[in-house]
Amino acid sequence: MKRLNNTEIESIYLQAKANRIIDGSEKSVIFYSKNLLEDRLSILSRCFPSNSLHAVAIKAQSNSDVLHHIVSLGYGLEAASIEEVKLALAAGCPNEKIVFDSPVKTREEILYCHESVPGLHLNVNSLAELERIPQNFSAKLGIRINPLVQTDAPEIFDVVKKNSKFGVPVTKRQEIIQACMKYPVSGLHIHIGSGIRDFSGNVAAVKMMVELADEINSLKEKNEQQIDWIDIGGGIHFESEDGEFSVREFAETLKKETGIFDRYNVITEYGAYVHKHNSFAVSRIEYVLESELKDIAHTAFIHLGADLFLRKVYSSLPIHYPCFVMGKAEVSSEEKYNIAGPLCFAGDYLYYDLPLPKLAEGDLFVIKEIGANTLSMWSRHCSREEPGFLFC
Ligand SMILES: Cc1ncc(COP(=O)(O)O)c(C=O)c1O
Repeated sequence: MKRLNNTEIESIYLQAKANRIIDGSEKSVIFYSKNLLEDRLSILSRCFPSNSLHAVAIKAQSNSDVLHHIVSLGYGLEAASIEEVKLALAAGCPNEKIVFDSPVKTREEILYCHESVPGLHLNVNSLAELERIPQNFSAKLGIRINPLVQTDAPEIFDVVKKNSKFGVPVTKRQEIIQACMKYPVSGLHIHIGSGIRDFSGNVAAVKMMVELADEINSLKEKNEQQIDWIDIGGGIHFESEDGEFSVREFAETLKKETGIFDRYNVITEYGAYVHKHNSFAVSRIEYVLESELKDIAHTAFIHLGADLFLRKVYSSLPIHYPCFVMGKAEVSSEEKYNIAGPLCFAGDYLYYDLPLPKLAEGDLFVIKEIGANTLSMWSRHCSREEPGFLFC
C-alpha cells in the first residue's frame, strides 16, 4: 500500500510552486494525491470479487474533484445525508452506485429519491421508516441491522451497542423477516463502527446477515422480491493489501466463513481506509514564541488547528498525525515546541512538547495522513477561510 514519504511530499510541494499553482505565500494548503487514491481503490478491486460495489463514504472526504475522480474510475459513493446524495449526483455518480444511509431521512427526501434518483440504494434505519416508502418504490430498498457484535471501534464510533441509534437490533429477527415479506426489501445493511483493526466482529456480523438473508429468501415465493445484496459497511482501517489485518485477509475470511460472495452482491462503504494516507497539509509558521523557561516548550503558531482537526482537538481519541518541517533535517533537537492553531480559544493546540529543529517565521510545517474526516468536517469557528485544496 503506497504511502508518501517526506521527500515525495517536498517534491509535490515544490512542483506545485514551480508550476505556479501556488506561490508559496499561502497561509496553508492541502494536497491530495490522485495516485494514492487510485492505489487504495485498486486494492479493493483486487481483493474483492469484481461484481462488488465499493461505495466510498463521502463524509470522510467530500471534495468535489476527489468525488469526480472516484466516480470516473467506476466506484460508487455512500451518502450520509440528502446533501451528500446531491454531491454524488453532481460528481456524475450513476444512481445505482449511490448508497443513501442517513439515519434521519425526511418523507420529502425519500420522495425525492423515488422521483429523481431511481435505482439508488436506500437503507432504512428502522422498521418505522419503511412506512415512509412510497408504493412501487423506484430505488433499491435495504434495511440497516444492528448485529450487536463486539468491536474494537473506539466508544464514540461503536454503533452496535444495545442502545445504538443505528439499525434494527438483530434480536428483532421475526419483525425483520415480516417487514421483508411486506415491503420490497432487496438488501440488508450493516456498519458496525469506525477505527476497527480486528475485523472478527465484522465477519461475525456478515455471517449473521447471510443467514438472515438465506432465511428470508427461503420464505419467499419465486416471483417475490428476494434479498440479493448485502451492504457490509465500512469502518475497517486496513493497513496493508496483504498479511495480517489486510484487505485481502478480510475478503478471504468472508469468503471462507460466510459464503456471502456465492449468493449475494456485496456493497462496501470504506471512507478512512480509502482517504487517510493520501493527503497532507502545509502551513506557514507565522511566528514563534520562545520560551524563557527551560522546562516549558516554545510555541509555534500555524494556520490550521481545531478548524481542520476537530477530532484531534475536541475528542479524547488518540489521534497522531505524523508531521515534519519542510527543508529541515529530521534531527532530534533539545528544542521542544507546542504547535498552536490559529483559533481564539485555549485548547487549540495540535502537538505538545514536539522535538523539532529550530523553527522560525516562514518555515513550512507539514501534517501528514489527513485525508479522512478533516476537511469534510471543516469548522467555521472564528470564520477563517478554508485552505486551498490541490488534487494532484
Ligand atoms: C454507515 C457508514 N458507512 C461507512 C462509514 C465510513 O466509515 P470509515 O470511514 O471508518 O470507513 C461510516 C462512518 O461513520 C458510516 O456511518
